[in-house]
Amino acid sequence: MTDVLYINGRFSTTDERVIGVEDRGFQFGDAVYEVFKFVRKRPIFLADHYRRLESGLRAIEIRSPWDEVYFGVVVHELLDRTEFEDGIVYVQVTRGESERAHFYREDLQPTVVAYSRRYTFPDAAKKERGVRLISTTDQRWLHCDVKSVNLLANALAKKKAQRAGADEVLLLRDGLVREGASSSFFAVNGGKLITHPLDEHILPGVVRDRVISLALSSRIRVDERPLREAELFHLDEAFTTSTTQGVMPVCEIDGRIIGNGRRGELTTQLQELFDDAEARLAS
Ligand code: PDD
Repeated sequence: MTDVLYINGRFSTTDERVIGVEDRGFQFGDAVYEVFKFVRKRPIFLADHYRRLESGLRAIEIRSPWDEVYFGVVVHELLDRTEFEDGIVYVQVTRGESERAHFYREDLQPTVVAYSRRYTFPDAAKKERGVRLISTTDQRWLHCDVKSVNLLANALAKKKAQRAGADEVLLLRDGLVREGASSSFFAVNGGKLITHPLDEHILPGVVRDRVISLALSSRIRVDERPLREAELFHLDEAFTTSTTQGVMPVCEIDGRIIGNGRRGELTTQLQELFDDAEARLAS
């Protein structure tokens, strides 16, 4: 598929296959990425995505290729050149290209790509129906706060979900629920939200952060603590959050019904608040 591609300071199309075979992103997964949504060509929560990208680059000692202003210029030009109104942008920054060696040179020029893609966001029926989850062992590294392109453990877990007829997979470690393979996880019990605290076990989700703020400003209590595996099956409600799916009700985990198996009250409220916040940014 041909889409607009930004690569190392110029615009091209995704037909151009330009990443060097010895790029460290390709050979070592030595790279970080971002995915953000745009609606009517307006990027959603762009500053949050920029901040997370920068903090990932700092954490793995890759020189940032841009400041926030230049990043914004690239994104806006990319969206100007894009032929459709709504979709997602994928951004990746790798450490760069050099002769393959585990020791990395500190003077490498990062490789930078960004491209837009069409995306079918969930419609009203899907947002009401929600998703089915399975759970599995979290086999990821212990720096999940960095949005690294090393997604093998996530992809294998996701495949397991797909084979089981589920939409997403909950990752468990040490008897604790961490997050989804590509989403943050929230439980609802006794009118209160429970979600994993920010640490090395989870990605600091942009939507997670917004949902927590929206909940707090609606006087909904938020308990940031890991949920024990045993608690999973005594929840009133549950939902996942992510850039592409927004607030998504969870109706079933490992074949067991959550709550009454339908979108819960708090989930509905937060889904509406979040969709409104997003719609305001797009208008
Ligand atoms: N994934 N946790 C993981 C492991 C994720 O990969 C994602 C997002 C999230 C939610 O983060 P956010 O709210 O910032 O989208 C949590 C993106 C969408 C992806 O990899 O495509």
